[in-house]
Amino acid sequence: MSDTHLRLGVNIDHVATVRNARGGAYPDPLRAARIAEEAGADGITAHLREDRRHISDADIDGLMEVLSVPLNFEMAATDEMQKIALRHKPHAVCIVPEKREERTTEGGLEVAREENRLAHFIAPLREAGCRVSIFIAADMKQIEAAHRIGAEVIELHTGAYCDAHSEGRLEERDRELEALREMSTFAHSLGLEVHAGHGLTYDTVQPVAAFPEVRELNIGHFLIGEAIFRGLTPAIAEMRRLMDAARA
Ligand code: PXP
Repeated sequence: MSDTHLRLGVNIDHVATVRNARGGAYPDPLRAARIAEEAGADGITAHLREDRRHISDADIDGLMEVLSVPLNFEMAATDEMQKIALRHKPHAVCIVPEKREERTTEGGLEVAREENRLAHFIAPLREAGCRVSIFIAADMKQIEAAHRIGAEVIELHTGAYCDAHSEGRLEERDRELEALREMSTFAHSLGLEVHAGHGLTYDTVQPVAAFPEVRELNIGHFLIGEAIFRGLTPAIAEMRRLMDAARA
């Protein structure tokens, strides 16, 4: 794969959300992961939340066993999650902020104020061979802090940009997009690998996919929703097509 290839990580959390709405085993996130691989996903992303509201520990065990593409394991910076990550040693670990009461990951991680703790937290993960990514807002202070603590990757939170777009706040959307553009250039200049994600849809993906410094997009909720209407394979194929077109 060339250095300019924009990777697509498919987040399968919400297959598990649907499963958990009824309990039982259907629909199976592992089956979704295998279909996503065949449809051209470069990686699979899954967030094991403290409250296990979607992905379960057994899902992570299964993903580690069956995947032939890398697993990007999203987790909060807690001792429990660190132990789980060190047991599995996934390809990548993405550290995200987590609040029990939030519906989804609302903002980026506060790295600057927790630099010491996070530096110690990620060190064993890096030693275990995981690529550590930090999910942050497009904020220079947070990017510098992520760099200082030894992260190799940052993932820029695209939620504010996507929300502004879907709610028709177009000036704000353009400002958010500009911040993402500037901060992806800045992070890249520090030697960080830049990823992006959260809330991306067919309507919002292309301007972000066009940033040359962005190497990976992680997309979940929209794709799983779109799969209801057109099936998972075509839903992913269309995202892939839009990303490639934006990149060309
Ligand atoms: N990236 C990170 C770090 C996330 O926490 C999430 C949501 O779990 C995503 C990407 C995907 O967001 P969405 O499901 O809105 O596409």
